[in-house]
Amino acid sequence: MPNSENKTNNFNEQLSNYYQQFRVYADRILALSNDSLEKTVNVALALCLVCAVLVSIATVALRPLQAHNKALDMKKNILDVAGLLDEGTDIDQAFKERIEAKLVDITTGEYVDGNVDEYDQRKAAKDPAQNEVIPPEKDIASIRTKAKVAKVFLVKNGDKLQSIILPINGYGLWSTMYGFLALEADGQTVQSINLYDQGETPGLGGEVVNPNWRALWKGKKVYGDSGEVALTLVKGTVDNSRPDAATKVDGLAGATLTSRGVSNLILYWMGPEGFAPYLNKIKANG
Ligand SMILES: Cc1cc2nc3c(=O)[nH]c(=O)nc-3n(C[C@H](O)[C@H](O)[C@H](O)COP(=O)(O)O)c2cc1C
Repeated sequence: MPNSENKTNNFNEQLSNYYQQFRVYADRILALSNDSLEKTVNVALALCLVCAVLVSIATVALRPLQAHNKALDMKKNILDVAGLLDEGTDIDQAFKERIEAKLVDITTGEYVDGNVDEYDQRKAAKDPAQNEVIPPEKDIASIRTKAKVAKVFLVKNGDKLQSIILPINGYGLWSTMYGFLALEADGQTVQSINLYDQGETPGLGGEVVNPNWRALWKGKKVYGDSGEVALTLVKGTVDNSRPDAATKVDGLAGATLTSRGVSNLILYWMGPEGFAPYLNKIKANG
């Protein structure tokens, strides 16, 4: 008999022995009185084992589905800030047709090669091999580290660049807020903001997700006349008669600290340590 067949037979025999022993043991336990401690402990242990196996199988089996849903959710956030999300929009289709993801070296503002689909900027920001520690005096957005490479999204209309979607993050009162800022192709005019992941208080700082507040951003300008980042939130309502009204957005009522966090993250990410080099290149290239 070949060696491998011999091994298989031995294994099957051993398995059968184990099963017989298990049956004898199980029969003995099941025959015990329901009040016995030994039966109670054994039934509880068996139940735990079965549940653990089921949870493990569910975790492993659902992992690809979770990853797909996470990616879909991110595409939805991007289409939302791009103004391309309507009820019934086919997310994958719309994303494929209109959005192009690109990797950008934040320091130089140049596009870099890499696997753009696989790249996770949030993970990279926490990985010492891929991140950069921000010196405290420059850390306006209170994020401590940033990825060296950013993943930006270009919204295309045919061959024409319609808008640029930039990832942004910064600390509010309770949480680091993550989002996207969409700028028109001029690299100056805001199309929309979407702080899709934040842990501020619902009804106070959490109003960053309120569509009415988000709508106030449309058409605002990021940079002032001398090229400095001028876009900030003001306490209360913007006085539209002010000459700088185009760079001011209403602060969130009762949430001064979250509002300050939003101003700070704009100041950081639109500034020289953030996307200013990239946006300058876009502007220079027309
Ligand atoms: C339970 C609780 C939750 C709060 N959540 C926030 C918040 O999410 N963002 C924020 O800026 N302020 C929040 N505040 C208020 C701040 O503590 C602080 O009073 C406020 O930012 C001052 O803003 P105001 O000058 O607009 O009132 C919260 C306060 C309390 C008591």
